[in-house]
Amino acid sequence: MDEIIIRVNNLSKNFGSVQAVKNISFEIKQSEIFAFLGPNGAGKTTTIRMLITLLAPTSGDAAINGYSIIHHPAEVRKVIGYVPQMISVDGALTAQENLMLMAHLYDVPYRECNRRIKEMLAFLKLEKYARSLVRTLSGGMIRKLEVGQAMLHNPHLLFLDEPTTGLDPIAKRNIWEHLVELRNTFGTTIFFSTHNMEEAEEACDRVAIMNTGQIAVIGSVSELKEKTNKKDATLEDAFIFFTGNELQSNGNFREIKRTRQIHHRLG
Ligand SMILES: Nc1ncnc2c1ncn2[C@@H]1O[C@H](COP(=O)(O)OP(=O)(O)O)[C@@H](O)[C@H]1O
Ligand SMILES: [Mg+2]
Repeated sequence: MDEIIIRVNNLSKNFGSVQAVKNISFEIKQSEIFAFLGPNGAGKTTTIRMLITLLAPTSGDAAINGYSIIHHPAEVRKVIGYVPQMISVDGALTAQENLMLMAHLYDVPYRECNRRIKEMLAFLKLEKYARSLVRTLSGGMIRKLEVGQAMLHNPHLLFLDEPTTGLDPIAKRNIWEHLVELRNTFGTTIFFSTHNMEEAEEACDRVAIMNTGQIAVIGSVSELKEKTNKKDATLEDAFIFFTGNELQSNGNFREIKRTRQIHHRLG
């Protein structure tokens, strides 16, 4: 359980003069649930995109399951699943058809596709919707389906970029029940980004507070609270302590709206 599955070494990314990620280093153990907590623009998505080999770092490297993201990206891709921030299903296809498409993309052996899709729909409690057009499903069900898509090839690690932005509290809870079950059942390492304090507090083993491209602090929620030396400190207190900023709870309005617009477009 204590094996390091992600080892990040001095990773940086510049976009022209913008230093989106500044020389970050950290490690994640196998089967951890780990969160990047930070405001919009902190560099969360950029870091995730480098780790999943979609974006080349400006400098530094990371090893995933022992493989360098720069020198062995194909090996890295075999062991990861990715749920992007924006919608990644086709609304005009059924749930089952979306899963089949991804099974082929992820090179799931042909004769195993049907069984794995059936099992995944059962695991996510979406069997009833197998033949429903995805555009008729709720936002929470779509998110679950996206998690399912990213898990069909049995990856060791799942990366989720703001998995619950724009979802209602019940859908949010439901997604988390499934993610925790994935970890508990298969030992999947779960790496997610969020700007939601409660989500970070409730769901993860460790959190990295990220701000302006840097990791301000990393540790368990209780460690971060203790370090503030404040009695009954909340995670929000820790965030302010380590970044000097407040995390605006309504600051993500534009993103939620964008997510919903995309959802609406499916309909
Ligand atoms: N493709 C890009 N081109 C130029 N700038 C980018 C690009 N992607 C991200 N950035 C910039 O990098 C910074 C970090 O962005 P991002 O990683 O998306 O943050 P987060 O996911 O924490 O909101 C922001 O200043 C953003 O504007
Ligand atoms: Mg982002």
